[in-house]
Amino acid sequence: MDGLSAFAPQAGADEKNETVGGAALSAPLLSVENVTLEYRAPGRVVRATQNVSFDVWEADRFVLLGASGCGKSTLLKAVGGFIAPREGQILLDGHPVHGPGPDRVVVFQEFDQLPPWKTVRENVAFPVRVSGRMSRKQAAERADYYLEKVGLSRFADAYPNTLSGGMKQRVAIARALAMEPRVLLMDEPFAALDALTRRKMQEELLHLWEEVRFTLLFVTHSIEEALVVGNRIALLSPHPGRMRAEINSHEWDLNSGGSPEFQAATNRIHGLLFEQPETAGDIRA
Ligand SMILES: Nc1ncnc2c1ncn2[C@@H]1O[C@H](COP(=O)(O)OP(=O)(O)OP(=O)(O)O)[C@@H](O)[C@H]1O
Ligand SMILES: [Mg+2]
Repeated sequence: MDGLSAFAPQAGADEKNETVGGAALSAPLLSVENVTLEYRAPGRVVRATQNVSFDVWEADRFVLLGASGCGKSTLLKAVGGFIAPREGQILLDGHPVHGPGPDRVVVFQEFDQLPPWKTVRENVAFPVRVSGRMSRKQAAERADYYLEKVGLSRFADAYPNTLSGGMKQRVAIARALAMEPRVLLMDEPFAALDALTRRKMQEELLHLWEEVRFTLLFVTHSIEEALVVGNRIALLSPHPGRMRAEINSHEWDLNSGGSPEFQAATNRIHGLLFEQPETAGDIRA
C-alpha cells in the first residue's frame, strides 16, 4: 500500500456517523461552510479564501495545510471570531460564530505572546480568572495542573524572558489548554523553533492530546508537520485558498518520517497542493 488509500475528497457520510469511545457523533463540533474571507481597504479588496468548507469533530486534530498567503491564518482568525465571513458561515456546536469567546483559544507562532511582567503561573492563570469562571486560587491550581502537563512545574514562578522559545510556546499551550476551550486553534506554533525543538514539541503536543483529548485546529505550511500532527488534513490551493482535497492522516506519526511510504505521501500532497495553478488573485473593488 502506498499510504495514500486514505485520500478522500471530503468527509463522507460514513465518517460522520462514526463513533468515538462508543458515543455516536451525530454532528460536527465545528462547521466551516462555504466560507469566503476578504480584507477590505479603500479601493482594494483582497480575497483570502474562497468557498472553503470543512467539518471538525470532537477530538480531531484537524490541519489546514497550504502555501504561504493561501489564507490559513485568516481562516483561523475567522474561526476565532475576529473576522466575519464575506460569504458562508462558521458554526460551533451548531451556533453561528459572531465574535471571539473563551471556547476558542489561539496559540500563535510568536514567542512574545506572553505578557513579560507576569510569571509563568500568572500568565496561565490570568485568562482563566478574567473569563470569570474561577477564583484566584482555583485559577492558580488550574495553571499548575496544565504547567505540569507541559513539563514546566519548576518554572511556574519564572518570568517569560528567562525561558527559551520552546519553553515560551509550552507556556502558551498550557495557557490555552487551561481555558479548556471547545477548540484549540494553533497558527504555526512551532515554526519559529529550531528543527530539533520543533520535533520535540510535535511529540509533546501528541502526548498531551493522548492525555487531554482536546479538539485541535492546527495551521502549518509544512507537509511533514501536517502528516505527523493531524488526523485529518485540509489541503488549500494557493491564494486565494480553496479546498483542494481533504485527507485522513491518522496512520502517520513521528516514527513514519523517512519511510518510502511517508515520502510518497508527501510527494502526492505536494502535487495536490500545487497542481493547476490558480490565476485568480486579488480582486479590485
Ligand atoms: N490585514 C490584512 N490586510 C489585507 N490583506 C491581508 C491582511 N492579512 C492578510 N492579508 C492577505 O490575505 C491573504 C491570506 O493571508 P494569510 O495571512 O491568511 O495567509 P497564510 O496562509 O496564513 O500565510 P502564511 O503561511 O505566510 O502565514 C494574503 O494574500 C495576505 O496578503
Ligand atoms: Mg499565516
